[in-house]
Amino acid sequence: MSQQREAYGETLGRLRRRLRTLHQCTNALLQAESEQALLRSICEILVAGGEVRLAWVGYCEDDAEKTVRPVAQAGDGVEYLERLKTSWGEIELGQGPVGVAVRTGHACWVDDIRTNPRFSPWRAAALARGYASCLAVPLIAYEASGGAVDLRGTLNLYAAECSAFDEHAIEHYTGLAASVAYAVTALRGHLAEDLTSGVTALRARAERKRAEEALQQAREELAHVTRVTTLGELAASIAHEINQPLAAIGADANACLHWLAADRPDLDSVRGALTAIVKDGLRAGEVITRIRALLTRSSVARGRCDLTGVIRDVLPLVGPEIRRHGISLEMSLAPNLPQVTGDRIQLQQVLLNLLMNAVEAMREVPPVRRRMVVRATTDHRDDGPWAIVAVEDAGVGFSQAEAPRLFEAFYTTKPGGLGMGLSISRSIIDNHRGRLWATTNSDHGATFQFALPGMP
Ligand SMILES: Nc1ncnc2c1ncn2[C@@H]1O[C@H](COP(=O)(O)OP(=O)(O)O)[C@@H](O)[C@H]1O
Ligand SMILES: [Mg+2]
Repeated sequence: MSQQREAYGETLGRLRRRLRTLHQCTNALLQAESEQALLRSICEILVAGGEVRLAWVGYCEDDAEKTVRPVAQAGDGVEYLERLKTSWGEIELGQGPVGVAVRTGHACWVDDIRTNPRFSPWRAAALARGYASCLAVPLIAYEASGGAVDLRGTLNLYAAECSAFDEHAIEHYTGLAASVAYAVTALRGHLAEDLTSGVTALRARAERKRAEEALQQAREELAHVTRVTTLGELAASIAHEINQPLAAIGADANACLHWLAADRPDLDSVRGALTAIVKDGLRAGEVITRIRALLTRSSVARGRCDLTGVIRDVLPLVGPEIRRHGISLEMSLAPNLPQVTGDRIQLQQVLLNLLMNAVEAMREVPPVRRRMVVRATTDHRDDGPWAIVAVEDAGVGFSQAEAPRLFEAFYTTKPGGLGMGLSISRSIIDNHRGRLWATTNSDHGATFQFALPGMP
């Protein structure tokens, strides 16, 4: 009678302990902040409950050995785990309770580690640690719908007594493992959300960068094409610009031949003519070099740039066109203009566009009014000096209603116009961290100008 009471008492005690561990585990499941912390506290609670000496959780890896890697543990036997090799594959290391539990999706246990052949690869180490029996339960929650939440891992428990895991214990731990699987999945859900939004943001950023790069490239190609077009329009004038020095060279060379034919050649005159030939040759060569630069280069090269130099580069190209229309040109270049960082060719292109537009705006106005001013000034701002280049004309100007459209792509009021000049110019100046804008003059015409931050 008293023996029976003792047996009942023992069962009751065990049940109470399990109930307590279960209660603690439930709390841990509800309060867990991270997967790692959750798994660790479950192991700790189980060991503290006194039924097992070692508790660990292993996750399946997809390496060649199909390793089951310990990810959390508690209890006596950390060194045992450090050296433990176990697998979920069909190899010898996969025949232990862990491997079987993973493959079958059901608990697998060893009542006596000393004799069970399943456990032979780990027997010596386990006995040395005092483990007599063990249990592996898969971290799976089977749902009523027929689905399952599977973490592809196991909860593994080692006890000091043989046959420590009876039917009730297995049911108890299987239930616990299912709760763990749910809790971890919920935690991962949040994590996955965080990760996904992070990844989405990253992907969006990469996507945007790629789009920007493509746009930038398209812009550069377009800029190149319009450059070529502008030069095409200028071709006749430029040919003239080059023909002039070439004709002068011819004349000077003839004069030299003539002088040299005399009995006493006038060597001073010959020297003078030869000097002029060299100068004209250089002048023609320079124009060609500039045209070639404008025609061939389509990529951007940033460097230190002096805008006065950029103005000087462009004037020979539009000069003939300016003269052809009987336009008087005035230059007002402030000394000590701050240098800017930029692509010389692109800045030349902007100025070329503004100058050509000014010329075109004055084609129809009375010849006396045809006057333009190119002004370069320094503006001292809070963030340092800015260089400003303005092209002022006395042409047809633009109305208040037109103003917002001037810089739109394909906006043109000219019969053969393309409407890309100002839009490209603005994107170039924007890319140089500058500003390009237009104002109407108080008397006639318009002023188009751009400001670029000076180099420190
Ligand atoms: N200096 C200017 N004076 C008056 N209107 C101008 C001037 N520059 C540009 N515009 C106006 O802005 C429009 C767009 O210029 P742009 O983009 O260079 O293209 P396009 O020169 O091919 O027309 C022109 O058609 C013209 O109506
Ligand atoms: Mg234009």
